[in-house]
Amino acid sequence: MSQDATSAGQPVGIAGIGAYVPERILTNAELSAMVDTSDEWITTRTGIRERHIARPDQAASDLGAIAATRALESAGVKAEDVDLIVVPTITPDMVFPSTACFIQKAIGAKKAACFDLEAACSGFIFALETGRRFIESGAMNTVLVVCTEKLSSIVDWQDRGTCVLFGDGAGAVVLRRNTAGGRGILSAILGSDGNLAHLLSLPGGGSRNPTSEETLRNRMHFLKMEGREVFKHAVNTMTAAARKAIEQSGLSLADIAWIIPHQANMRIVQAIADKLDLPIEKFYVNLERYGNMSAASIPVALDEAVRLGKIKKKDVVLMVAFGGGFTWAALVLEL
Ligand code: ACO
Repeated sequence: MSQDATSAGQPVGIAGIGAYVPERILTNAELSAMVDTSDEWITTRTGIRERHIARPDQAASDLGAIAATRALESAGVKAEDVDLIVVPTITPDMVFPSTACFIQKAIGAKKAACFDLEAACSGFIFALETGRRFIESGAMNTVLVVCTEKLSSIVDWQDRGTCVLFGDGAGAVVLRRNTAGGRGILSAILGSDGNLAHLLSLPGGGSRNPTSEETLRNRMHFLKMEGREVFKHAVNTMTAAARKAIEQSGLSLADIAWIIPHQANMRIVQAIADKLDLPIEKFYVNLERYGNMSAASIPVALDEAVRLGKIKKKDVVLMVAFGGGFTWAALVLEL
């Protein structure tokens, strides 16, 4: 797995990107027939209008394998050449084996080492930084990051405070030393605060509360969130992380062409724009069509923005995320 001599020393960047969202769209109007909510409440409080929902027979690895194949095609890389598959997800197919192993099998990436990474909504940036370090160390050439979430499988469809927020989808990138173009990953900030774990969690089914009749009766196998508290921390923490990542990159806010924030809530994005004193037009946002897809949100948005020609080669992009743990992350990248 030693690196070829021609690329050694080149910066690590995104060589290809792909995404997949399930076909079924669930609208706010349909949700209003399921719980006591309204299109007006959901759009004004969150900006979300619809989200995609996987079929019952689709697991997270099935969504991820499609996104992964598309990312490999866009990079012109064969599955057999992938050294490492990292899968950020909070909705793995099973507790074990890892969803990364199922994706490896589906795409035929025979020589890859595989593991899942748990950093909730910050998972994509945690995985980019992990992959970058494996490549920079010389241990790997090609890392495939596959963010895939079937959040519909852990959402409590009786809880109007959470079920309106989430959607299913997958986004993947191929990381390699970049021999053509941009300077790749320029800086990354990762952080966590386990003291606030209780504000956003799925309490049942793990070793703390193994599945039992009681955990099922208390609906502990569904995602729980203190929305207002999460909101407050998300705004402050993402703003601080974004500032630090820009500072560490040696660039200034003016050098950033696009910001791709975690796509949880339009009010959070607007609050970050206000705090950074940046026009909202600099933020690439598609949450109105997908809802919050946790780790998959940023790569799905990046894929869309690149395909639409909004984000171009050599653009400097800032990504910033926040999620359960709490975890947070920000990364500056020249495509
Ligand atoms: N429809 C109608 N009313 C609702 C709904 C709904 N879907 N949901 C809550 N309400 C009600 C509440 O019951 C409450 O009523 P009350 O005043 O009578 O008690 C009222 O609306 C206000 O509720 P809040 O929770 O205070 O509403 P808020 O303005 O904070 O919005 C929201 C809630 C959208 C969840 C917001 O807090 C939020 O976006 N939080 C952050 C979520 C986030 O960023 N998550 C990221 C990480 S996710 C991850 O890591 C997996």
